[in-house]
Amino acid sequence: MKTILTGLRANSVFTIGNYLGALLPMVRLAKEHSGDYHVNLFVPDLHSLISEVDGGDLQANIMQSIKFYIAAGLPLNDNVHVYRQSRVPAHSELCWILNCVATMGEMNRMTQYKEKSEGKASVNVGIFDYPVLMAGDILLYSAEYIPVGEDQFQHIELARNLATRFNNRYGEVFTVPVSTAEQVKFMGVADGIRIRDLLNPEKKMSKSTKAENSKIMLDDTPEKAAKKIMSATTDSLGKIKFDMFNQPGVSNLLQIEALVSGVPLQDVVSTWAGETKYGDLKKKVASSVSGMLSEFQVRIEKSTEEQVYELLEKGEEYANRVANAKLLEVQKAVGLR
Ligand code: TYM
Repeated sequence: MKTILTGLRANSVFTIGNYLGALLPMVRLAKEHSGDYHVNLFVPDLHSLISEVDGGDLQANIMQSIKFYIAAGLPLNDNVHVYRQSRVPAHSELCWILNCVATMGEMNRMTQYKEKSEGKASVNVGIFDYPVLMAGDILLYSAEYIPVGEDQFQHIELARNLATRFNNRYGEVFTVPVSTAEQVKFMGVADGIRIRDLLNPEKKMSKSTKAENSKIMLDDTPEKAAKKIMSATTDSLGKIKFDMFNQPGVSNLLQIEALVSGVPLQDVVSTWAGETKYGDLKKKVASSVSGMLSEFQVRIEKSTEEQVYELLEKGEEYANRVANAKLLEVQKAVGLR
């Protein structure tokens, strides 16, 4: 059976960028395919250590993010596996082995590393190396489909390169994930998803941006979220068109509307073609987003700790079994066993 896999760092409450770019697509794929695919939605808690954790309480954030997975509608059947990365020690060992396959040149080219280290006097090695850990997260489970936002595409390509290089050097051990072009097709979207910062739409929406109004968090009240949308930066061109280059603010609103309402982007764009009033578009998006948040928040209240622990127990047993078997193949291939 093939595997679909993704993870979201639990450093803080998720933004709607995390939700629309990764969690919702993953849940949709799980609903569609969990009859005949394994679906692994895990908490990359070792990845959390590369940056600050909101409130300093990683355990609380981990619990909360699994409740978010459930509230997002993840089907909880036997092919769906939820686990914490640090409870599966094979991830760390494979990371080391892959470190010895990755090159400094390719790691230095990682855009996320450049962005996260920009302007900082001192940067931890984890920020440099986490794409290798991420490759291990994927390759241990022979995952072919990895629904992620566009900012992680370069890391998927790295995982493909490391798998191919390892296989060439040591024999066919890893399944190579499909290309990002194929990933996008599988996710059923036209392009990689990149939700923009509401105030500064040239940039992606990020939980680490300080300005409150730049991002919508999944625990924002619907009213607060609506206000943030109403104050989003647009432009002075006076036409509602999808053009990320010249009209990133307006295009971002159209993108959010499409993903929240589940209507193809092209259809949303044609509905608004010829319209000129940005206020009307904002009102529509504000109403869609606040509607989505109120439903989501009701479901969050319903998910319990017992439910989370039950899922983790089952998921971590499965994950260790699959990951240890793959790690043993790797250890044998490189001569450690
Ligand atoms: P992280 O935790 O930064 O983000 C989680 C997911 O949310 C997506 N995302 C966005 N998508 C669209 N628009 C945005 N503004 C936006 N912001 C975030 C990210 O692309 C991601 O899919 N290294 C990963 C976590 C990870 C992982 C893995 C993912 C660790 N191991 C294995 C897949 C497979 C990360 O830091 O994502």
